[in-house]
Amino acid sequence: MMLRTVGLAFVCVLAAFTPAAAGDGAGKTLFMHYCSSCHGESGKGDGSLAGVMQLKPADLTQLAKKNGGEIGFLDLLQSIDGRARVRGHGPTGMPVWGEVFAPRKDAPEGEQLQGAGKLLLITYYVESLQEE
Ligand code: HEC
Repeated sequence: MMLRTVGLAFVCVLAAFTPAAAGDGAGKTLFMHYCSSCHGESGKGDGSLAGVMQLKPADLTQLAKKNGGEIGFLDLLQSIDGRARVRGHGPTGMPVWGEVFAPRKDAPEGEQLQGAGKLLLITYYVESLQEE
């Protein structure tokens, strides 16, 4: 389908240019906006909401370490967009961020592309936070 192809091309172009700049810039801005209230500005799980949450937000700097030194990029991406279930992010049927990062198939094209772009930028940013 045309829309799919255009979307995929867009994501690929974005992917090609993103990693070098992942430590800073748009990914960081998005992370601060959508994630830092729980996971903290450093990603260590010490955001302002952490104290009032029953479930402690994960330390996002330790994901690779917990996984034998490697981060599963696709797993990470899916746990952010709501396709993989993360307790604390709501059920997958109604993911907290699903609507933003992976809008419904019938959403306008611009919305879909924006969602995919945001999701990718945030995933690269979280990947860049990994500590040895
Ligand atoms: C409302 C608070 C809240 C917000 C906002 C939030 N998270 Fe989370 N997140 C959590 C909690 C709580 C957990 C821990 C779930 C658990 O322990 O099972 C978690 C877990 C995760 C995990 C899984 C970690 C693991 O060990 O597998 C990832 C990845 C993650 N969050 C990324 C993000 C990203 C990226 C954002 C922003 C787009 C975000 N989160 C926004 C509360 C939040």
